[in-house]
Amino acid sequence: MAPSLVERTVDDVAEVVTKKDRAQSNYKEAFSQSAATTNYEAEINGSEKAPPAKYPNYLPYWDDVKYPAYEHFDAYEHGRDADPKFPNLFANGGEVKELTANIGAEVTGVELSKLNRAGQDELALFVAQHKVVAFRAQGFAALPIQEALDFAEYYGPSHIHQTSGAPKGFPRVHLVHRSASDTTAKDYFEERTNSVTWHTDVSFEMQPPGTTFLYLLDGPPAGGDTLFGNMAEAYNRLSPAFKERLHGLKAVHSGHEQAQAATDRGSIFRREPVSNVHPIVRTHPATGEKALYVNPQFTRRIVGFKKEESDYLLKFLYDHIALSADLQCRVKWDVGTVVAWDNRVTAHTAILDWQDGQRRHLARLTPRAERPYETPYEEKK
Ligand SMILES: [Fe+2]
Repeated sequence: MAPSLVERTVDDVAEVVTKKDRAQSNYKEAFSQSAATTNYEAEINGSEKAPPAKYPNYLPYWDDVKYPAYEHFDAYEHGRDADPKFPNLFANGGEVKELTANIGAEVTGVELSKLNRAGQDELALFVAQHKVVAFRAQGFAALPIQEALDFAEYYGPSHIHQTSGAPKGFPRVHLVHRSASDTTAKDYFEERTNSVTWHTDVSFEMQPPGTTFLYLLDGPPAGGDTLFGNMAEAYNRLSPAFKERLHGLKAVHSGHEQAQAATDRGSIFRREPVSNVHPIVRTHPATGEKALYVNPQFTRRIVGFKKEESDYLLKFLYDHIALSADLQCRVKWDVGTVVAWDNRVTAHTAILDWQDGQRRHLARLTPRAERPYETPYEEKK
């Protein structure tokens, strides 16, 4: 007889659990974009309601090219090489404003695209420490797309998203785009009470992203902020006994539902969807911090637990992450803003609260990082 799910602890449990739990997953799709929801004529030429897109070279297209499954690569963590005093990152001055006591900073007076490699190393550490940093007044959006990619790919090879639109010729850029004529948010609220979807990006991949960049191309005058949560602080808030229990536990993360949702709305998927098993507490390679690594969008089941046991514990962790406003910050977008976050120690959610009839257009650069790993529980002295 095949071993039961509870007895299975090897990686093949990922696909088995995914199949079993798919119908009851929490996956919630607040953005449902596709070629069908993008009015290219109005985006390129403008309409009575809205001006043309400021960066038409970044409009999303959905090619139907299929990519092979990812293979393991040796990730290199540049944050480890950083001078912790950040002399290169702030070589020309610059001002740092903390957004809250434990997460988020806003930086002015630093031009990311002008950083040397030592400055980029320091950027990785600075972002890992602050979790999310909004760099204001950047010229990033106006760079040739390849140059923006070259900057980000210093940190690791880009993730090619399995379903999202991408600029023509640049599948390695992930786009977040809602046309001025798009009504999907209004439609969405017909059946959902909120658009909150706490997650870390593509945690179902074997090597999910680390230092990640998202920049505004075009945005509404108000709304569309992004919430970020500090997952290292979420871990630290737990009692020693609870922390200790979480160590050693692993969970299945699934990308199948996202791919299925894209197929259901007639869009594409570029790679056969995957599931992977990751530790519930992961360690950051540069700071050594431990962080919670589960999210309701992609995490499905704790390996070795029965379904109800797993649901019970995951629900506690999801609530802890979502309700702890005292370890979150809210990032406001502005023309020229590039937000960098460390996807390994944060969770985030978009907020779809802006008015229909307003375009929101952002691009994400998504270098992949190490396979999540954990280090043993340590008692705090
Ligand atoms: Fe995201």
